[in-house]
Amino acid sequence: MKPSIASPLYHAEPIEQRIRALLSRMTLPEKIGQMNQRNASEGYAPDYLAEELRAGRVGSVLNVADAGIVDELQRIAVEESRLGIPLLVGRDVIHGFRTVMPIPLGQAASWNPELVRECASVAAREAATTGINWTFAPMIDVSRDPRWGRIAESCGEDVFLTSRLAVAMVEGFQGEDLTEPGKLAACAKHFAGYGAAESGRDYATTSIPEIELRNVYLPPFQAAVDAGVATLMPSFSELNGIPPTGSEFLLRQVLRDEWHFDGFVISDWDSVRQLRTHGLTENDAESALAAAAAGVDMEMAGGAYIDHLAGLIEEGRLSIDVIDSAVANILRIKFRLGLFEDPFSKRDRLPPLLDADALATAKAAALQSVVMLRNQGGVLPLRTDGLAMVAAIGPLADAPYEQLGTWIFDGDPACTVTPLRAIEALLGPGVNVHHVRAMETSRSKAGPAFDEAVAVARDADVALLFLGEESILSGEAHSRADIGLPGDQVELVRRIRATGTPLVAVIMAGRPLTLTGIVDEVDAILFAWHPGTMGGPAIADLLFGVESPSGKLPATFPRMVGQVPIYYSQKNTGKPPSPDMIVHIDDIDTHAPQTSLGMTAFHLDAGYRPLFPFGFGLSYAEFQYHDIRTSAAEIRLGESVTISAELTNRGGVAADEVVQCYIRDLVGSVTRPVKELKGFRRIRLEPGETATVEFELHTDELAFFGREMRLAAEPGEFHAWIGGDSDTELKTTFRILAAD
Ligand code: BGC
Repeated sequence: MKPSIASPLYHAEPIEQRIRALLSRMTLPEKIGQMNQRNASEGYAPDYLAEELRAGRVGSVLNVADAGIVDELQRIAVEESRLGIPLLVGRDVIHGFRTVMPIPLGQAASWNPELVRECASVAAREAATTGINWTFAPMIDVSRDPRWGRIAESCGEDVFLTSRLAVAMVEGFQGEDLTEPGKLAACAKHFAGYGAAESGRDYATTSIPEIELRNVYLPPFQAAVDAGVATLMPSFSELNGIPPTGSEFLLRQVLRDEWHFDGFVISDWDSVRQLRTHGLTENDAESALAAAAAGVDMEMAGGAYIDHLAGLIEEGRLSIDVIDSAVANILRIKFRLGLFEDPFSKRDRLPPLLDADALATAKAAALQSVVMLRNQGGVLPLRTDGLAMVAAIGPLADAPYEQLGTWIFDGDPACTVTPLRAIEALLGPGVNVHHVRAMETSRSKAGPAFDEAVAVARDADVALLFLGEESILSGEAHSRADIGLPGDQVELVRRIRATGTPLVAVIMAGRPLTLTGIVDEVDAILFAWHPGTMGGPAIADLLFGVESPSGKLPATFPRMVGQVPIYYSQKNTGKPPSPDMIVHIDDIDTHAPQTSLGMTAFHLDAGYRPLFPFGFGLSYAEFQYHDIRTSAAEIRLGESVTISAELTNRGGVAADEVVQCYIRDLVGSVTRPVKELKGFRRIRLEPGETATVEFELHTDELAFFGREMRLAAEPGEFHAWIGGDSDTELKTTFRILAAD
């Protein structure tokens, strides 16, 4: 096996020698050219880029996904420029290429790193057919605000889950060896803290104390760096007054000095020039200086580097060492990708797009990402015997484009299988599947079509309501202040409810939604995110019990938007709430005014509980957790403890369950969260089967940045839980003693 790119063997000669040899032959303009990424989507790229490529003024292009054009651009770069340096060809291959996988937040709901790795691997090999050799993914911003549209691109609220999936995605995109056909250089983004944008408004300010930054927002990036991620992108936002594009703290101290990252840093789109808009610099030249000095090696679009870096060097304001190390970082990745040996598209050596394997992966990912939030009276799975008529109602029952979600430049809606089509195929001609769209878009108001939907539902054996958000309502710059079901969807639910026909809501969305208004109005809810190309067949299989739902929430679902941010790993506070210590606004006694309303950390109108907690998801099986234990009551720093429990499937069907292990460090030099995920495993149990699930925890895995801003585990008492969601109460305890 070839060494992984994280391995020191891979870093050894001759790549470093080749970099030095090449650098020594480069002129300053050629070096700056390598630091310049150009948009290739305007017009016919070879025409308007040819001169710049010949002059060595471009190191990378983005936004071209046509093999003929990419190969021609590469040919000009390698055959007609003085030094023949090949191009990096970047693209946002975020959750699939032609075969669209569930949105990343949906993939995260599978809690299945192997499957997530496979999704990235399929996306990489499809993209590579066009000559793309670099993706701007994974996006691994911890996201605790469902108003933020980009939560769709993330792995949700948790640092541990995000870190595990970050590694899986990097491995899937990059493989063991970047020179293999079908692999892409990955890009961990957006470094760092972007998910904490004030009020979830995209691009907005973030203020994150360093201790929280290090304990919550940075670990997924460090995990990606340790997994050998080739590139990294600073975020558009500002962090504690300094936009990451100009942050030496992030890009030099943390990334290079502490983590020893040896790939390169690409700015976000025009974010170098935006330093001026932020109010950090006076003009584009100063922006170029700030970004280059901070450690941004390549500029995406914008042109501040190509216009100003040479002048800054001439004026003696920027050291040539900064340029040389940036170019070396970029060339290192070009060498690792094998571009100097073969920069061209690999279409002949790769499977066709949308092949059976890609579609099977997309379906498996959709199946495992759907979260069943409610199943009153066991209405699901639906029985096919005796079924005569199904009402399939709603704007997302047959919306091939919408179910693909955000960032699908290269997806093809014509290849999408919608739930309507899949249900028809599954049921065959014997069952009448009556479709009423009822709303033109997810945002539409009530109209005459509601009456038609009600009439059809009244005659049906079951009403399936396909609700949620169209794809345009999430993603970059698509934040919402109200995260309820848009338009008159709640009204539609109430009208259908009144027919008395069993009612199942299938909800597709790019974020957690507040479902308080409908949760008691429907018999069952399948939350499907934006499930991608094969979402339809996956949903049909789940509805009719071919497979059991097994997804678990990667983010908390609030009752009301005003609870945000609400996440499971919160701090205890000095006045933690409990059911007997809260008062609801409707229960305040107006005749005998109460001065004390519980005096704990809760909202008068929302309490303190979310609607659905992190990690939650129901199954057709009945899983029972029991007999939790710990391998030792006490361990020393530097040792491990094993937490285990029994899991029994007491239901009648085989199903997957995602077993979760949480801990609480009761006393710390800084306060610790009330629960922290430390392990998870997806296992499958037959009816009646019992399995022992074990989680081995080394004290290093319990380490955190404490008062001295040093990563260390601290002695003291710990609680540990194992269960099916973050509310689990199956608990044991252990103690860590100081090292000998
Ligand atoms: C986004 C990045 C993306 C880039 C290139 C920006 O607007 O923030 O995540 O990679 O565009 O499309």
